[in-house]
Amino acid sequence: MWTLRAVERTDFESLYQLDQQCFPEGIAYSRTDLLAFLSAPHSIELLAESTSGAMVGFIIAELRRKGEARVGHIVTIDVAASMRRKGLGRALIFAVERRLREMRIDRVRLEVSVDNDGAQGFYAEEGYERIGRIAGYYLDRIDAFVMEKKLETSAV
Ligand SMILES: CC(C)(COP(=O)(O)OP(=O)(O)OC[C@H]1O[C@@H](n2cnc3c(N)ncnc32)[C@H](O)[C@@H]1OP(=O)(O)O)[C@@H](O)C(=O)NCCC(=O)NCCS
Repeated sequence: MWTLRAVERTDFESLYQLDQQCFPEGIAYSRTDLLAFLSAPHSIELLAESTSGAMVGFIIAELRRKGEARVGHIVTIDVAASMRRKGLGRALIFAVERRLREMRIDRVRLEVSVDNDGAQGFYAEEGYERIGRIAGYYLDRIDAFVMEKKLETSAV
């Protein structure tokens, strides 16, 4: 069905193209932003390849400081339209959560557009709860919900 593997430098353009397909103009990342996320020292990136070798999804997460604590942060999760509702998004986010738990990180957060019902449904299904709202987060005019999941680090 698919295999998850680490992201290589040569994957950059296909990640960029998939992100452009997954998000509206202005919300999809620019090449500069995407490269910055991928080059960040503590980023966690995974991609999914179909059996035919096509790149069909990826996830990028990073660590952010909250006072003394470190919190995981999902930067983006992108699944190709033809591969949705087959469990790939769940496999990607599960793999990242597992990495975070191994690093003893016990919380993961993300922002999602208030307009993106599909992604909100997905995150709710994966155990994320709304903890806040940021006005004008996207394009200075679309609000984002902040969602968080507590990770059970003793389950590693
Ligand atoms: C959100 C996204 C990553 C989900 O990926 P996916 O591979 O389709 O998700 P899964 O198949 O693993 O879904 C797992 C469960 O989440 C829920 N879910 C997934 N997509 C959903 C949707 N569009 N609406 C409601 N619930 C949804 C379902 O309960 C699903 O289980 P089910 O199919 O057995 O009912 C994918 O739709 C996507 O890439 N969207 C565009 C980019 C995006 O919005 N990313 C999030 C940015 S914040």
